Amino acid sequence: MIVYKAMRTRACAQKRSITMAKNYFINTYGCQMNVHESEKIAGILLNKGYTACEAEGDADIVVFNTCCIRDTAEKRALGNIGVIKALKKQKPSLVVAVVGCMPQQEGVAAAIREKYPYVDIVLGTRNIAMLADEIDKVLLSRQNIKKRSDKKYRCFDNSLPENYLEIDENTPSLRTSYPNAWVNIIYGCNNFCSYCIVPYVRGREVSRDINSVLDEVKRCVDGGYREITLLGQNVNSYGNDLEDGTSFARLLHEIDRIEGKFRVRFMTSHPKDLTEAVMDEMAASSKICSNLHLPMQAGSDKVLRDMNRRYDRQRYLYLIDSLRSRMPDIGITTDIMVGFPTETEQDFEDTLDIVERVRFSNAFTFIYSPRKGTPAAKMEQIPYAIKQERISRLITLQNRITKEISDTYTGGIYEVLCEDVAPKHSGCVCGRTESGRLVTFEGCEQDIGKFFNVKITKSRSASLFGQKEGETL
Ligand code: SAH
Ligand code: SF4
Ligand code: F3S
Repeated sequence: MIVYKAMRTRACAQKRSITMAKNYFINTYGCQMNVHESEKIAGILLNKGYTACEAEGDADIVVFNTCCIRDTAEKRALGNIGVIKALKKQKPSLVVAVVGCMPQQEGVAAAIREKYPYVDIVLGTRNIAMLADEIDKVLLSRQNIKKRSDKKYRCFDNSLPENYLEIDENTPSLRTSYPNAWVNIIYGCNNFCSYCIVPYVRGREVSRDINSVLDEVKRCVDGGYREITLLGQNVNSYGNDLEDGTSFARLLHEIDRIEGKFRVRFMTSHPKDLTEAVMDEMAASSKICSNLHLPMQAGSDKVLRDMNRRYDRQRYLYLIDSLRSRMPDIGITTDIMVGFPTETEQDFEDTLDIVERVRFSNAFTFIYSPRKGTPAAKMEQIPYAIKQERISRLITLQNRITKEISDTYTGGIYEVLCEDVAPKHSGCVCGRTESGRLVTFEGCEQDIGKFFNVKITKSRSASLFGQKEGETL
């Protein structure tokens, strides 16, 4: 009897400690996929009674949602995981979780266990829904109520042929990017570009059911979101693994039919899979923005082949022409990498040449970073100084083009969705044109989520400044 009572007391104390008001802090690294996954992590933590806090020092749980696309991304996360050691010393009750792409790499979860023993929870990219249970296990084991099993590190099994993922439609999201809502449509990547770690850490492609996606978009629009950004490593593969014949073009068509005033963007598109049907939908639709992020990576056929991109210069230029003939004002952005192992000076000049020809609105430029386990990492590497010199030439060229394109906006009137208060200009707000250009104009917090016609008065590199002409409904 006494034993029974003692057990009950313990059980109550355990319950209280798990549900007591506590704070969380999430560090997010990497792409929009991770930004959205952090919204899901926030949703899980909120359900567990945690509240967001402004400083790590006030947190009871700190989550690192990591990226490993380049060495720099990984070093940044590891550096900050190292720094948390001091906080953990001051506050032993702190729970530290490392999740996302980094621990999903071969051997990395074990290395984290070794080097950062104070990390309590490690979860891979397909295990985030387990976070709530893992927190309970940590808290219970600290109270000596239930010993944790030695499965402290949970990553999905990369050795499974299909890396099967049962899509979890129940994880709640605490959206943090109003008026934009991120909506996942496809997980994983099948492409195996020779430089890229993503297929190894995110597994094979799995598309969400079209009705689930449409329901989520409808809920967001009904909830007041004004921009929907569809997410996937390669959105153009959407539907390839479904048996109902669904395609990305069909998804766009169905989304366009949803009632309400809102915009649709999507990322990322692989040039090899961008179809005529998708371009037609973009052109015909009133909601899908004339804006496309179409990563090119390189302008040399040889380098594109070595990267396993499965398109060439000609195909890329054809796509650009096809897009512009359908949508003359389309804003096209890209990703370009320099310093791939087989890139010669001539290959790099081919990249500069195609950049001149295409005239991207903007480009994200990267220095190739060898990723362990990928084919390109095994090739002979180019000295870092050469990579640096190439990227600075590329950036100079693209900056000139970006500015020239910005100048073409001055004097025009564009519809802009107000997205936020302007961080560097007091009394101002900022938002984007349909083509994706950032515009700063006079306004206040109440303007966020509204559409305005804005007259562009000034351009500065990638951004524009203007005056509000009136709200568009
Ligand atoms: N799925 C997207 C890209 C996701 S990664 C696509 O295929 O377009 C985002 C960008 O990071 C890539 O477009 C590429 O330019 C860059 N990147 C990927 N791996 C890299 C590496 N090992 N080193 C440097 N940049 C890399
Ligand atoms: Fe990486 Fe290529 Fe997949 Fe993009 S398409 S995530 S670059 S492997
Ligand atoms: Fe990084 Fe993973 Fe995205 S490696 S770029 S967070 S898919």
